[in-house]
Amino acid sequence: MTEPITRRQLIGRTALLPALAIPACGGDEPVARPPGVPVGSFGADSTAEQVTASLDLSGQTAVVTGANSGLGYETMRVLALRGAHVIGTARTAAKAAAACSSVAGNTTPAVLELSDLASVAACVAGIRQSGAAIDMLICNAGIMALPELQQVNGIERQFFVNHLGHFAFATGLIEQVRAAGSGRIVMLSSSGHQWAPEAGIEFDNLSGERDYDPNRMYGQSKLANGLFAFELARRLAGTGVTANAVHPGVIMTNLGRHFSEWKQVLARLIGWTFMKSVEAGAATQCYVATSPALAGVSGYYFADCNPLLPSAQMQDAALAAKLWAVSEELTGEPVSI
Ligand SMILES: NC(=O)c1ccc[n+]([C@@H]2O[C@H](COP(=O)([O-])OP(=O)(O)OC[C@H]3O[C@@H](n4cnc5c(N)ncnc54)[C@H](OP(=O)(O)O)[C@@H]3O)[C@@H](O)[C@H]2O)c1
Repeated sequence: MTEPITRRQLIGRTALLPALAIPACGGDEPVARPPGVPVGSFGADSTAEQVTASLDLSGQTAVVTGANSGLGYETMRVLALRGAHVIGTARTAAKAAAACSSVAGNTTPAVLELSDLASVAACVAGIRQSGAAIDMLICNAGIMALPELQQVNGIERQFFVNHLGHFAFATGLIEQVRAAGSGRIVMLSSSGHQWAPEAGIEFDNLSGERDYDPNRMYGQSKLANGLFAFELARRLAGTGVTANAVHPGVIMTNLGRHFSEWKQVLARLIGWTFMKSVEAGAATQCYVATSPALAGVSGYYFADCNPLLPSAQMQDAALAAKLWAVSEELTGEPVSI
């Protein structure tokens, strides 16, 4: 099924997004949707409040990583507004507490530093100890386009933080998600997954030392987020738990903090022509985490609150399986899912 591109996509693709090296949604082709996945009435301009307006999430628990900033903060705010108990993670206790206390509703702060596997393990242990079943696990935290190569445990930092940290976190919490019966895992990917290297994941260059490019390495990490979601979906088929990946749109948040000065100025000047508000940027992840229309829908990629076909690389089952095996090795423990 194909649809014409929107004015925002047209503007973005023709000039502005490439100038900023910001990924547009989809390629230059008309939107291609996977068959069999419900297409709803929400779209690029829908907000997180709108897509959850009819829902009462009382009695449900959500975990949102990176809840102190940008899309994660808005996601926590809106899920709590709808009655969910939200465990909001941030890199420090002070950031988590400040974010949680500034939104209305039932929230619990938690510390999660994704570049530190001991911090990931401690956060997982704390959530397990609380005994909470997790209805929504939203792996949202991320970093983008570090100008120079940085490493964590010898691994390029974007791959470590965006993918490996979340791999350890989500697999560590899988029993809590299963306990919810029909828990949903939502991985924040990006249309920037199309910037990934030709190999998809450069398993022979995970250190980034052979050849480092800020956007390509971001693309690789966001491709990994999508492949992880799809491999989770495959492994969890029949359990009631679903896993999907989302592209939130292009939104002015702190994510662009590593962009050069001129790109940041350009984004502030012209961003209004193609960027979403934070309220709309958080909509797709909130929609995929909560919409009754998506009950049981697993293993898909969503943008603008609707399913979209990702790149062929993100649909590569062999690549997803290899990424899983390598991620198990790098995070230290085999995962039985
Ligand atoms: N904004 C966009 O246009 C866009 C487009 C496509 C995809 N995305 C994805 O959307 C997600 C949210 O991004 P955003 O735009 O909301 O960015 P943001 O405002 O920069 O928020 C990112 C969050 O991740 C946290 N984080 C960064 N490094 C971390 C680490 N090592 N351990 C734990 N948490 C860490 C940040 O904490 P601190 O505040 O302490 O640094 C912050 O809470 C990301 O996964 C991003 O890739 C965004």
